[in-house]
Amino acid sequence: MKPVRKAVFPVAGLGTRFLPATKAFAKEMLPVVDKPLIQYAMDEAREAGIEQMIFVTGRGKSALEDYFDIAYELETTMRERGKSLDPLEPTRLPPGAVASVRQQEPLGLGHAVWCARDIVGDEPFAVLLPDDLMWGKPGCLAQMVAAYEKVGGNIICAQDVPREKTSSYGIITPGAVDGPLTEVKGLVEKPKPEVAPSTLGVVGRYILQPEVMRILDTQEKGAGGEIQLTDAMAALIGQQPFHGLIVDAVRYDCGDKAGYIQANLALA
Ligand code: G1P
Repeated sequence: MKPVRKAVFPVAGLGTRFLPATKAFAKEMLPVVDKPLIQYAMDEAREAGIEQMIFVTGRGKSALEDYFDIAYELETTMRERGKSLDPLEPTRLPPGAVASVRQQEPLGLGHAVWCARDIVGDEPFAVLLPDDLMWGKPGCLAQMVAAYEKVGGNIICAQDVPREKTSSYGIITPGAVDGPLTEVKGLVEKPKPEVAPSTLGVVGRYILQPEVMRILDTQEKGAGGEIQLTDAMAALIGQQPFHGLIVDAVRYDCGDKAGYIQANLALA
């Protein structure tokens, strides 16, 4: 079984729900207390043993790349003034650890992940949606990697969601349950509550096999007129092991104003 060394961060979203705050900078740079959202996802990935971070970015998102670079002027000034550089420590990644590709058009999450196909290559990879701030110890992705080392294949983070909210999530048709692991028998993107196969929702963390990229090569548009990762994953069911993992972590939906405020209050 190949280890999970690479992680894709789809960060091309426009952040329209936070306008005007996000008019001139990336929504992933919105701070939760004193760290931007992207830092939480990055810390979680590093804790899980990820070595290569792949940003799928877009126009107006260069702050994300600068954030993980050296800030010579700032650091020189801080040193001259005898200030500690410790707060900058989490922004330092080993040389070459960040790669980025552009998603030129907002065609959906499946399309965003597919844009990273050449950097991912022929190995399993993680996907982290930074809007979903996952607060747990060990981190959410570390828990998923531990499960992956036991069962292999594809693992998605799963959480029970209120039935009236199924149309905001990928929803799982559950099979056999083994502790926190549930076999995934089907997946559907954003079903209406009355047709949802369960209330087990997909949260923004995935460990996927590279074959999903071959399915995305020809994936048609799905829910919302977008190329959906959920549809491509659904096509892998039956061909490879596929599990949902209920992690021991709290999810804050920071793509939503109320969730973002909750995250700030809880983490503060
Ligand atoms: C995306 C996925 C969805 C998943 C959700 C988790 O939707 O398409 O399957 O349940 O993330 O946050 P989005 O929230 O980007 O519309």
